[in-house]
Amino acid sequence: MMFSRIGLGAGNLGSVSDAEADRLVRAALALGVTVFDTARSYGASEARLGRALAERRNEAIVVTKGGYGVDGVADWTGEAIRRGVDEALSRLGGDAIDVFLLHSCDVATLERGDVVPALVRARDAGKVRVAGYSGEGAALAWAAARREIFGALECSASPFDQANLPLVARAREESFCVLAKRPLGNAPWRYATRPEREDEAIYWRRWRELGVDPTPLAWEELCVRFTAFAPGVTTALVGTARMEHLEAAVRAAASGPLDAVVHARVRAAFAERGGGWTGVV
Ligand SMILES: NC(=O)c1ccc[n+]([C@@H]2O[C@H](COP(=O)([O-])OP(=O)(O)OC[C@H]3O[C@@H](n4cnc5c(N)ncnc54)[C@H](OP(=O)(O)O)[C@@H]3O)[C@@H](O)[C@H]2O)c1
Repeated sequence: MMFSRIGLGAGNLGSVSDAEADRLVRAALALGVTVFDTARSYGASEARLGRALAERRNEAIVVTKGGYGVDGVADWTGEAIRRGVDEALSRLGGDAIDVFLLHSCDVATLERGDVVPALVRARDAGKVRVAGYSGEGAALAWAAARREIFGALECSASPFDQANLPLVARAREESFCVLAKRPLGNAPWRYATRPEREDEAIYWRRWRELGVDPTPLAWEELCVRFTAFAPGVTTALVGTARMEHLEAAVRAAASGPLDAVVHARVRAAFAERGGGWTGVV
């Protein structure tokens, strides 16, 4: 199964109807999108994805995440992983979860000795094909140093989030699959004033301070082409429930990497102004 350059970040599937979710997933497959990223915490997203993919499960790579939120079980325990995997598998359908990621736990949790072994057992039992980690900072680095356990990493990457790029490039040498989340930096150019949501506000500030003029490209095209072709990135996960936005991302990726001069301008702006801009969880 091939990972597509653009994946669908399915967080918003929880907030649309079943029919809309079906339409979006069908459109994604028609566009050649094979990677679908969901999580236990995305409301009805896992169940909607499972339903929408039911007949075409073998055309998709489904990525989900967990470690928390299992009824009657403490978060970040071996049991939360074991039951979380079983429940996600029953919602998503198919023989196994293609990629299961530990969803943003800290290093202490990774080192504690019950969570990671539970994930390895789920993989060895054939319930999970690839075990991975999703998050930022020290815990991401911890996972990236353990290729014998993890095969996939998910982390933020975009013109506004370049701190992970050296780790991502090294991960390719170790044959990790790397999924880039927030590739548009939550599209901050949409807002005339500071957005209320904290993560969007962080990107809005970075976008303004970066001071890059994307012309003649539109911002979304610049972001998609920068992120999807960053060395080591396997798939850029564009979060949307709108077909036209997914289509625009696939079209942008089809144009290939950014022109070298534009790419260098984006890198230089971050090097100059992005000191201390760590990956947004
Ligand atoms: N593991 C984690 O902790 C974690 C955290 C964050 C994200 N993720 C994953 O990564 C995916 C992407 O991250 P994200 O959704 O936070 O950020 P993103 O993809 O950078 O941005 C998504 C936002 O951009 C908008 N957008 C998309 N295409 C657009 C376009 N062409 N023009 C203007 N606006 C556009 C979307 O609105 P519309 O809905 O209107 O298109 C949405 O509000 C998520 O869906 C999720 O799968 C994982």
